[in-house]
Amino acid sequence: KGISRLTHVCRALHYNAAFAFDIDGVLLRTKTPIPGASEALKLLQKEKIPFILLTNGGGTLEEQRAAFISDTLGVPLSPLQIIQSHTPFKQLVPKYEKVLAVGSATVREVAETYGFKNVVHPIDIMRYDRSIAPFSSISTEKLETVSRELPDLATRPFDAVLVFNDSRDWGADIQIVLDVLNSEDGYLNTVRRTHSSKPSVPIYFSNNDLLWANQYSLNRIGQGAFRSTIGTLYSRLNDGHMLEDVGIGKPTKLTYDFAHHVLIDWQKKLDEGNTREKKPGPLPQLGVSPASSPFDKVFMVGDNPASDIIGAHGYGWNSCLVRTGVYQDGDKLPCKPTLIADNVLDAIEAVLEGK
Ligand code: G3P
Ligand code: MG
Repeated sequence: KGISRLTHVCRALHYNAAFAFDIDGVLLRTKTPIPGASEALKLLQKEKIPFILLTNGGGTLEEQRAAFISDTLGVPLSPLQIIQSHTPFKQLVPKYEKVLAVGSATVREVAETYGFKNVVHPIDIMRYDRSIAPFSSISTEKLETVSRELPDLATRPFDAVLVFNDSRDWGADIQIVLDVLNSEDGYLNTVRRTHSSKPSVPIYFSNNDLLWANQYSLNRIGQGAFRSTIGTLYSRLNDGHMLEDVGIGKPTKLTYDFAHHVLIDWQKKLDEGNTREKKPGPLPQLGVSPASSPFDKVFMVGDNPASDIIGAHGYGWNSCLVRTGVYQDGDKLPCKPTLIADNVLDAIEAVLEGK
């Protein structure tokens, strides 16, 4: 739609622009492409305008996610353009050895590929003793195929709990996470005697989305709902003390800083004609803002006001809110987006035309 006209307008852009696209509710709904998504990305590629995909989703490696979206949208993408909710966890590898990796069964491979030395999935704990989560409906067959028998499960303490993506077995995961947070120094089968806001081992959530949009007609609850459940139960088990946890993902500044570094590196690759390079440069330090930016304006295109739009607004980026996901006309907005469009292609069109 209107691409040749846009191409002309776009060449006349008088500032350095860059884009960050949300995935669920902007480019895809679950695995189905959203109309206009492919055209929007192709247009930016043609014009050599840098962009990254910045999602609160996860559970796969960045390489796998890039390959899937490239195939689905018919647009070549580099894994270096993909930031998932848990991508910044790579920075925690030197800090923590034994981690409880919570989420889909696939997060084990993600955590190990990132470099964590001793990765435990809650399902391994159920294999060790099923009575730890007595009401889990996981089948014995799945338990046997997906879990691992880990000899040092109870003899070595956990260093951290990392929630990579949405829990697939809430009851069991909540129980096991609370066990670790309230343990004696991170040892399984123990419980500490003191109550405190500070858990026995630190816990990191990679996304705080209360809601997200899949192919169902109504919004679904996400990892933010899981985080809030863990927080409520932790507090009840700790005499009312609120859980001290760490949250990353949109809308946190930590994730926007990380994304900004990635966008700057991607611009360098475009300048050098080196976009096939798959190896990431040195990872940005968590919590460190880029010293300077080549971009006059960065546009975050998203469907979730509480994640994409407020995050961009707080970070000083522009924002394009689309109507293909979480947001519906009439919803209360936490801040004013730069523009609201029917879909991602309309959003790009409006920006490039300087509307
Ligand atoms: O689980 C994924 C979801 O919470 C949001 O993904 O791409 O809309 O940030 P996205
Ligand atoms: Mg979204």
